[in-house]
Amino acid sequence: MSHERTVIRGGLVITAADEVHADVLVEGERVVALAATGSPAAQAWEAERVIDATDCYVIPGGVDAHTHMELPFGGTAASDTFETGTRAAAVGGTTTIVDFAVQSVGHSLREGLDAWHAKAQGRCAIDYGFHMIMSDVTEHVLKEMDVLVEEGVTSFKLFMAYPGVFYSDDGRILRAMQRSAANGGLIMMHAENGIAIDVLVEQALAAGHTDPRYHGEVRRELLEAEATHRAIQLARVAGAPLYVVHVSCEQAVNELAQARDLGLNVFGETCPQYLFLSTDNLAEPDFEGAKYVCSTPLRPKEHQAVLWRALRTNDLSVVSTDHCPFCFVGQKELGRGDFSKIPNGLPGVENRMDLLHQAVLDGHISRRRWIELACATPARMFGLYPRKGTIAPGSDADIVIFDPHERYVMSAATHHMNVDYSAYEGRQMTGRARTVLSRGTPVVDAGRYVGHAGHGTFLPRSTSQYLI
Ligand code: URP
Ligand code: ZN
Ligand code: ZN
Repeated sequence: MSHERTVIRGGLVITAADEVHADVLVEGERVVALAATGSPAAQAWEAERVIDATDCYVIPGGVDAHTHMELPFGGTAASDTFETGTRAAAVGGTTTIVDFAVQSVGHSLREGLDAWHAKAQGRCAIDYGFHMIMSDVTEHVLKEMDVLVEEGVTSFKLFMAYPGVFYSDDGRILRAMQRSAANGGLIMMHAENGIAIDVLVEQALAAGHTDPRYHGEVRRELLEAEATHRAIQLARVAGAPLYVVHVSCEQAVNELAQARDLGLNVFGETCPQYLFLSTDNLAEPDFEGAKYVCSTPLRPKEHQAVLWRALRTNDLSVVSTDHCPFCFVGQKELGRGDFSKIPNGLPGVENRMDLLHQAVLDGHISRRRWIELACATPARMFGLYPRKGTIAPGSDADIVIFDPHERYVMSAATHHMNVDYSAYEGRQMTGRARTVLSRGTPVVDAGRYVGHAGHGTFLPRSTSQYLI
């Protein structure tokens, strides 16, 4: 291993806990020391590489705990590979992803996990871990959960939506929760009542309501809230912790808040699309709304203020992307004339850190809360802290030199994600990553990708560090 030393001088180091003007010393892959800028200790450091961070923030690399590179969905597959998606993540200041390996119906968790290891190994620009999607909860699969926890795949996603694909009924959900209560795993829930939604889909199509906006109308807020409530009660019965993914609306937030007020180990995640986009986008004419089809769906604008408040009060504690891109041409178009055939998902892995910085500028959250939501809490939630998610002696030197003044415009013409549109096309941004280190190695320099496929390694994770 290289013992090359890097010193980052003159920046404002921001973690979830502190903001300090400090220099950071990196040796090989790790942070070894922080010292006040200008102090004798910092001045005495010598290093092969010196990075000037004057007027910049020095922040931990982002931890995006919800991505779907290459996810097979709706007869096609998410357009970012592990290579293109992690490259884009790096450029956007994210240095860790936790992606979802998929168990197919009739197959084991092992087969699914092996397949995802094969897709990712040797291709990633940054470090990566896996959650496991469980589509077929059998006795054998319950036993496999214990083995996966031992291997560092310590979280399992279940779906109350998508009957016939990923869906699990309440009995299966309860069994998986009971198992996770015993083995320390964390159940992640896609909370939407998929059985009821499918009835509304059928009725909408029969009435000739085929445009993308009906995707949002049939996936009713009440059906997200009902599923969130049910998931919480099942977790209580099982004595298991619960993490609800991609929370989109006020009614679901209320369910989480109530559970948390009772002191339950229930956590909520939301995503930039629910904070910055709305049903106005889904209603864009000429099938453009298809670009914004995801599940849970985008909601009317009024929900955004509720989500921001919940992010401040910690009723929502993580912002991940649910990055699941499909090109407009050839992929989203599969649903022309039938919104239910539009592949579900939005691109965003490159945009999350900058959008949340914009939220700092807009007064929604503080700088430290930005880092807590995007780096520290996801690292803690998924057993990666303090290796990831902070800048401290012993941590991986996953560090972003973030220029809070740089202005640019988000666009598909300049982004690195392998998708032919940007969900944020034309948005004026202030602040972006200038330099990004992944385990001490520069992967982005002056905003340009300088890393390579295969630098990123698999991260076996411990169990959640958030459980009471
Ligand atoms: O629309 C979405 N969210 N696509 C990805 C799969 C999922 O449910 O997270
Ligand atoms: Zn989901
Ligand atoms: Zn997802």
